[in-house]
Amino acid sequence: MGKDVVKVGLLGLGTVGSGVMKILQMNGEQVRGRAGINIEVKKILVRNKQKARDVKVDPSLLTTKAAEILQDPEIDVVIELIGGLDAREYVEEALRRKKYVITANKDLMATAGASLLRLARDNGCNIYYEASVGGGIPLIRPLKHSLGANRILRLAGIINGTTNYILTRMDLEGLEFTEALTEAQARGFAEQDPTNDLEGKDAAYKLCILASLAFNSHIDFDTVHMEGISNLNRRDLLYARELGFTIKLLAIGEEMPEGLALRVHPALVPLTHPLAGVLFENNALYVEGNAVGEVMFYGPGAGSMPTGSSVVADLIDVVRGINHQVENGVMEIDFLDKKVVPLEELNSAFYLRLQAQDQPGVFAGLANAFSEEMVSLDMIIQKRSREGKAEIVLVTHVEKEKNFNAALARIQKFPGIGAINSVYRVIPK
Ligand code: NAP
Ligand code: HSE
Repeated sequence: MGKDVVKVGLLGLGTVGSGVMKILQMNGEQVRGRAGINIEVKKILVRNKQKARDVKVDPSLLTTKAAEILQDPEIDVVIELIGGLDAREYVEEALRRKKYVITANKDLMATAGASLLRLARDNGCNIYYEASVGGGIPLIRPLKHSLGANRILRLAGIINGTTNYILTRMDLEGLEFTEALTEAQARGFAEQDPTNDLEGKDAAYKLCILASLAFNSHIDFDTVHMEGISNLNRRDLLYARELGFTIKLLAIGEEMPEGLALRVHPALVPLTHPLAGVLFENNALYVEGNAVGEVMFYGPGAGSMPTGSSVVADLIDVVRGINHQVENGVMEIDFLDKKVVPLEELNSAFYLRLQAQDQPGVFAGLANAFSEEMVSLDMIIQKRSREGKAEIVLVTHVEKEKNFNAALARIQKFPGIGAINSVYRVIPK
């Protein structure tokens, strides 16, 4: 005889935890119907029981003692929404006690996912993490199941809501970087330490998770090239627009004959490209499979209710499994160890903004440095000089990264060249 209720312990009642509770209150009947059995949130772990919350919950549910959840034999499912790598000990204890775990924690899944999945398998349970990538957009399930017949060739898209929100507000509304960041934080998109968002680390964690599923390989986080937008200057957004581009933080994973290429960096994206129209906290991901062709996923990549929606969907799956007593086997453990190709071997077009002396020979010197390294130029603009100094913006054709870097090293030594202000990769028109 099965159970008549599945009891859940929630770790965290912040942005996402509140969304989960609101969805369970708002759509309780539907969730119960889909899960096939009652779901009861028995305890909620928080740091501060007195804090004002964005959702109404019975105060007696709140606890500051993780053991009240992890050591409660009645609790079958633990939802971890604390975040950060310190949550690992709670997740491990829950799995060792044979509880199913649902998490939105990309830091943890990217760096310890394989070990946690093994622990889950060894204890006859499982760990679900749909909300860890893309907020409310279904990405994990499609990669694991719906696209399972494909060999995935490429993933590319925008998978950090905070930086996309900042870039959108700066580009379209002229906000300063810090102003846009403050708003992203107020809306609950940013991580506790927003450096993870701004430096590309959050997107790199997510790329690790997606790429491991897409390419059936363990991905060592340190092999993902990562650049963020902390140093972005609004001048570059203005020049990009003048050239017919916007700037987006992209995550790209490819399986090439030489191995995997994994990178997160800002890039100029043509205004006509579908990713240029992905605004505010929305995310979008292209997945190219050798059978399906190109599929695009789009939607809210962060926020309380969208992310809560993914967590509750995982909860329905887990509870259905418990209710029907079906084997909910862990499938993503037997990954291969594929080689990762160094960034300098990849090809890209580049945007470069620099200061130069407005004097004869400077342009020729620049052109010479590029031609010596076999880098061909696509566009070049010189802004009217002030006090004998000119600002030069140029875009190259697609070339090997190492050739562009060698040209840049030559340019830096050239006497007429002042500061190199910015270098960005470019998605060609
Ligand atoms: P948050 O708003 O900072 O909430 C964290 C919650 O955990 C708070 O309720 C906090 O308690 C509690 N908490 C933190 N450390 C604790 C500890 N040591 N002991 C007990 N309670 C603790 O975070 P969030 O934005 O909801 O993010 C949660 C997770 O979801 C993270 O892994 C994040 O990366 C992921 N995620 C977030 C979003 C998003 O849009 N925010 C989207 C996708 C995934 P108090 O309330 O008492 O401080
Ligand atoms: N900080 C993350 C973002 C939350 O901005 O995308 C969603 O994972």
